[in-house]
Parts: sequence; structure tokens; C-alpha cells
Amino acid sequence: MPRTPLVAANWKMHTTHEEADRLAREIAAGAAAVQDVDVVVCPPSCYLMPVGAALAERKGGALGSQDVSEIVGTGAHTGDISGAMVRDCGGTYAIVGHSERRATRGEDDACVARKFEAAQAAGLIPILCVGETLEERDGGETDAVLARQLGAVLEQVGIAAFATAVLAYEPVWAIGTGRSASPEQAQAAHARLRATLAASDAKIADSVRILYGGSVKADNAAELFAQDDVDGGLIGGASLKAEQFNAIVKAAGNH
Ligand code: 13P
Repeated sequence: MPRTPLVAANWKMHTTHEEADRLAREIAAGAAAVQDVDVVVCPPSCYLMPVGAALAERKGGALGSQDVSEIVGTGAHTGDISGAMVRDCGGTYAIVGHSERRATRGEDDACVARKFEAAQAAGLIPILCVGETLEERDGGETDAVLARQLGAVLEQVGIAAFATAVLAYEPVWAIGTGRSASPEQAQAAHARLRATLAASDAKIADSVRILYGGSVKADNAAELFAQDDVDGGLIGGASLKAEQFNAIVKAAGNH
């Protein structure tokens, strides 16, 4: 099945209000110029509304959050932002389980699974991040780690939930290091993830977009996106430069 490529910008904890606004306009213009690629911008939460407005004005790109609370509803949860709030700000997507949150905010597999479920309950499309550390890769544990991380979510929400979800393979050792996974390494991991889903439902597995993230740049995007099971990218550093990011979107459009 042909899958529409998706390229998402994860700005992490970067940009001022002014920079966010400018970058969103430049990305929206780039996205509007490319056919058949879904573009998603995930700014810091405090800039969701202005970035959403800038994207909507130029009709290029959807809005996403970098995280979402696992708690549904409202309540005394200082600092949390619910899926409903992200929706209310115009968001369509929410990243869950990013390795930086797993590593530094104590988010374990069960917590990530609850966040995935909460995002969907609010009508958001989760972008579920999974990926192994260098130590795990060197120890030959990559497949087991991916199966565990994906398995926890599958157990929580069931395979049907993946009909409206996006997966992102982000090897920790490739994030922000300038050392991307090779196209072969990415393809192997993506194929494993798809096979894990296919064991429950082949049709859903075939339709899920699996993004690659980790040091994607304009000059290595095309070879990564050329892989059968690589359906786009989740871009950190290069998404802070519109020219770089737009070139990556363009590369996705050529596949
Ligand atoms: P870099 O593109 O900076 O390696 O970051 C990838 C990432 O973590 C996207 O979520």
C-alpha cells in the first residue's frame, strides 16, 4: 500500500515567540509547495497557538505537541497539558515516548502507553517514539527493546488503535549526534516494527507510517526515505532551519 510520507519538526526546547512565528511561516511556505507530503510542526507548548495560526495562514502543515499528559480531563496537575488542551489550541498530533522524556523525565513503557491512549482519547494522532541506546544496540538487544516498547502500547490500546497512529524509530545514539543510522539499519528496524504490528493485523501494519528520526539532514534524507519501510522523518536540529527542513520535506516528496 502506498503510504503518504510524513515529515515532522520537533523543535524541542528552542525558539522565542518571534523565532517560532518566523520559522512556522517559512516551513508552511515550503510545505505548501510540495505535494503529497504531510508536514507536522511540534513547537514548545507555549507557542502552539501562534505557530498553529502561522501554519493555517499559509495552508502548509499541521500542528503537534511534543508531549501530552497521561491524565484525561481536568484537575490539580500542575504543569501538565492535556490532549484536549492541545486539540483546543489547534493540534492534530502529539509526540509520545520521546527518548529524551524516557531518559530524563522517568517515562517508562507503561507511562508512554497511557500517554498514547490519552492522546487518542482527545482525538490526537500519537507519534509514538521507540528506539534503543548505543549500549543496547552493541549488546544485540535492539529487536528486544523495540518489541518491548511497542508491545507495551499494543497491550494497552490494542492493534486497532494503530490505524490512527504514527510510529517513529529514533535510535538514541543517532539523536543530535550527527551520526544517523545507515539506510540499512533504519530499514531493518522499521521492518521489525512493521512485522510486530503485522502479527496482530497485516492491513493496519501496512498502513502505519513509520518515521525515522536521528540526525536527518538535507543531504542524507533522500537515501533514508528511499527505504521501503521508511515513510518520512522526525526531525530535530535540522527543523530549526527552514531551508534544511524544507529540503527534507522535498526529499520525502520525491519518494
Ligand atoms: P535530531 O534530528 O537533532 O538528531 O533529533 C531527532 C529527534 O530527536 C527528533 O525527535
